[in-house]
Amino acid sequence: MLQLAGIRKSFGKIEVLKGVDLEVRAGEVHALLGENGAGKSTLMKILCGIIKPSEGRVLIEGTERTFANYNEAIAAGIGIVFQEFSLIPYLDAVDNMFLAREIRGRFRMLNRKAMLQRAGELMRQLAVDVPLDVPVHRLSVAQQQFVEIAKALSLDARILVLDEPTATLTPPEVEHLFKVMLELRRQGVAIVFISHHLEEIFQICDRVTVLRDGELINSCAVSEVDKDRLVEMMVGRRIENNFPPKPPLNPAAPIVIDVEEVQLRRGGPVSRFSLRRGEILGFAGLVGSGRTETVLAMLGAYPAVRCKVSVDGIAKRFSGPDEALEQGIGLLPESRKDEGLITSFSILQNISLNNYRKYQKNIWFIDLNKERDCTGKAMERVRVKAQGPDARVDTLSGGNQQKVVIARWLNHEMRVLIFDEPTRGIDVGVKSEIYSLMRELADKGCSIIMISSELPEVIGLSDRVCVFRSGGIVATVEGALVNSETIMTHATTGRL
Ligand SMILES: Nc1ncnc2c1ncn2[C@@H]1O[C@H](COP(=O)(O)OP(=O)(O)OP(=O)(O)O)[C@@H](O)[C@H]1O
Ligand SMILES: [Mg+2]
Repeated sequence: MLQLAGIRKSFGKIEVLKGVDLEVRAGEVHALLGENGAGKSTLMKILCGIIKPSEGRVLIEGTERTFANYNEAIAAGIGIVFQEFSLIPYLDAVDNMFLAREIRGRFRMLNRKAMLQRAGELMRQLAVDVPLDVPVHRLSVAQQQFVEIAKALSLDARILVLDEPTATLTPPEVEHLFKVMLELRRQGVAIVFISHHLEEIFQICDRVTVLRDGELINSCAVSEVDKDRLVEMMVGRRIENNFPPKPPLNPAAPIVIDVEEVQLRRGGPVSRFSLRRGEILGFAGLVGSGRTETVLAMLGAYPAVRCKVSVDGIAKRFSGPDEALEQGIGLLPESRKDEGLITSFSILQNISLNNYRKYQKNIWFIDLNKERDCTGKAMERVRVKAQGPDARVDTLSGGNQQKVVIARWLNHEMRVLIFDEPTRGIDVGVKSEIYSLMRELADKGCSIIMISSELPEVIGLSDRVCVFRSGGIVATVEGALVNSETIMTHATTGRL
């Protein structure tokens, strides 16, 4: 169905694809693997006519094609779900899905009813419940992800590219997506699937192609490899993906933040929790279960019905994350592109954003050398792969952008850090280093709240876990109860 041959691509002097071949057959799910910055997304953008290759050929069903733009690729039967969302925030799901391909009726009038119906069908096919008529910026990240997927499906593509579609989804939603993918595979669609979750490769993919630093390392059947072998191909060495050991629970540790009650909507559950000094408190739950909203309500950035919070035993009413920052509470938001970064700024500027006070020389000047020095160190700690601190953030790969968001908090001596999906899109090689970093911060006395849809990560890292369901905390578990069975039971039915 699809053949990419000898694809090369340079940005300036840097060659990011060095003669890559890829073959995808009809009716197969083909995994495309590689570390952050290996060139996966770039290769897929070349396939879709968004980026021009410096060299190489694209063949669809044996015929060479060159697409001048994405629309031409769509017309040739190619659909893509981008890693960074491409939805227009102020349009609703229906308008986004049919943008520039609107269904029209008599006199070329928009046929909203037909579009609504088709969108509804696609959502049912995906078995997800997403409101179709509210601006998509009001949807959760996972809901937006499903709108993206539905949009790609609506193209009736013969070649479907999914660039890290599962990064924002919880296990049940991933299962849904896989069912849909298998159905498409049965219909003969050629699917390219990019993910940093290696278990998923074995669950759903037929063949796998591995890139490293823009070079093709291997292309083979999934049945011929195991996880360790894949990691070795990706990273070029063996790695141990272990979680740092957990220190014993310390119930006597002082409580830094005490949330007496947060109620997101009338009649909904009331959340209560306390965050102790030096602990990692995990927030688990399905997408839409209220984890992010509860944290935002706590910081005064989400309108809750009731919200009572005290910091160090003193009642506090924050009016936003900036005010919380004054108290040493930092937030790493879930959506790096919309809230976490200014993508047209450089890495340096992005990391400095909330650090300027630290670089202050006197009331007029900041110490530029210090700024550069600290930024360089933070970039090294999370291994940002870029041309240098002055590279614009929008030229970085998705995973490397995420590392910049994390790097920003490393220069701070924060008392509380709230990480919302911190390892989203980060490759296996760096993930364990980020876990160690988080534990190191906790050992130094920082209290951490970690919201994550990746259950193994919540379990492996958290001292205690609050489980969310339909808008609030339904259980808090610790010790041996921090296991996937208990957590999933609470998250779905609440009964053990
Ligand atoms: N417009 C651009 N200008 C300069 N460099 C770029 C540009 N787009 C991508 N790059 C570089 O190309 C390399 C490959 O990026 P790409 O996004 O393809 O990686 P990826 O394999 O998708 O990684 P990830 O897993 O993090 O998403 C990176 O080093 C990135 O910085
Ligand atoms: Mg990518």
